[in-house]
Amino acid sequence: MTWDDLKDAAEAVRTRHMLTLFEDDTRADGFSLDALGMRFDYSKTNIDAAARAMLIEIAREARVEAKRDEMFAGAKINDTEGRAVLHTALRNLDGDPVIVDGADVMPGVLDGLDKTVAFAEAVRDGSFTGQGGKITDVVNIGIGGSDLGPAMATLALAPYHDGPRCHFVSNVDGAHIADTLRGLDPTTTLVIVASKTFTTIETMTNARTAKAWMSEKVTDPAAQFAAVSTSLEKTGDFGIASERVFGFEDWVGGRYSMWGPIGLALMIAIGGDAFRAFLRGAQAMDTHFRATKLEENMPVLLALVGIWHNQGCGYATRAVLPYDQRLSRLPAYLQQLEMESNGKRVAMDGFTLDVDSGPVVWGEPGTNGQHAFYQLIHQGTRVIPCEFMVAAEGHEPELAHHHTLLIANCLAQSEALLRGRSLDEARKMMADKGFTGDELERQARHRVFPGNRPSTTLVYPQLTPEMLGQIVALYEHRVFVEGVILGINSFDQWGVELGKELATSLGPVVAGETGAEGKDASTRTLVEFVLRHRG
Ligand code: F6P
Repeated sequence: MTWDDLKDAAEAVRTRHMLTLFEDDTRADGFSLDALGMRFDYSKTNIDAAARAMLIEIAREARVEAKRDEMFAGAKINDTEGRAVLHTALRNLDGDPVIVDGADVMPGVLDGLDKTVAFAEAVRDGSFTGQGGKITDVVNIGIGGSDLGPAMATLALAPYHDGPRCHFVSNVDGAHIADTLRGLDPTTTLVIVASKTFTTIETMTNARTAKAWMSEKVTDPAAQFAAVSTSLEKTGDFGIASERVFGFEDWVGGRYSMWGPIGLALMIAIGGDAFRAFLRGAQAMDTHFRATKLEENMPVLLALVGIWHNQGCGYATRAVLPYDQRLSRLPAYLQQLEMESNGKRVAMDGFTLDVDSGPVVWGEPGTNGQHAFYQLIHQGTRVIPCEFMVAAEGHEPELAHHHTLLIANCLAQSEALLRGRSLDEARKMMADKGFTGDELERQARHRVFPGNRPSTTLVYPQLTPEMLGQIVALYEHRVFVEGVILGINSFDQWGVELGKELATSLGPVVAGETGAEGKDASTRTLVEFVLRHRG
């Protein structure tokens, strides 16, 4: 099967209206999958039985099953960095052996989990205190995978919070840390410096600022710092005592790391039991992914729908639209997960891909997005596949009528995208309003919805810790499958390096310490403008 075969198949049905697929009354069930209490409905796409069979064949030819098994078994599939990829070991709560370089990593993983949870519980119950008493606030300083995961999940699980308040600082923009620390009491604040490498310039700059802030009120600021990192040496140099350093191994990628100690802030917010439930949810998805045939495998089907729309139909972007306010950071989280993993133009063998890489992922929670960008989704000239998500039940029984409206809106949007509104329907609507002649025609045309626009819907019972674990692991494995099919390494991120290097060289230039020689004319004149306007 070639990429051209897939593109031809997509082209052949491009003008077919998806509504015709629903003439078959098995369509909805036949193109939905129920697993682990969730329903993934992809019937509102132009994928038919032939297209699905072709996509499954593509997955088979790419050896998705074999690669999946290699990943779980600890093979060094991240071969541009020479590393295994074992975030799944972090939620392997049963401790089944996972061998890396001849040794079982599981005893260390489970011991690390126990230690991190014990510290989280000590912060929660007050047996670990600040110099002014029980910890009231936790500030997690990290960026990318050391921020987005725990920040997203902490917000998502707000109904389960019974620990200190958690805040997240990521941006090197001083506004972020200044706005966060304002109003906090340094004597009862715990700062977590979360950085896999402990070299990331944004995180280290913010960490030093937080230490200076704390030292104004606290005699031993380092005593109110904890660190999460793979580098014991660097955390020690920063002054953080080893008993508050929670380590992990280089086989956990940054954007896949919230299942381990990088989840410390989340553990403090929701407690060890709820955190373990979160892990259990992810573990259940791992088991489903490993044990289920491709045709009924939720991450695989999610990936194949993505491949159909992006590589087959040529739709360059994908909107993630959670009808769940508490998932409002999920699109940002998925942007890193998907775009840092699959935004690659070179295949494993070093040669340029002969197909587009992963899509642009973006989104906002519904219903807010409806009042912002849905206009373009419904009536713009480009087709944007939409991924809706919604819980059957909220966490506010007294506000069940809100939730009813939320679900109705979610379903209405996918229905509108599917169905659209024809010119005849629009004409009738305007005639009913009293329009006639040319003006009726003109007004009607503005009210046409082309419809036949694809979407998927993921419905889950309620956003519990376990369910969130399932959902995040679902997306992780989806990204993995897409990457395998594209033939790329989803686990490195060389594309972030050049900008980091240039920022380092530009630092002294922007500080006015050195000249901008060697820079292009645009950069030079921008620097000049900035220097003229800086105090
Ligand atoms: O800049 C990319 C990146 O390396 C991400 O992959 C990572 O999640 C983030 O930076 C933060 O890295 P660290 O945890 O080492 O500070």
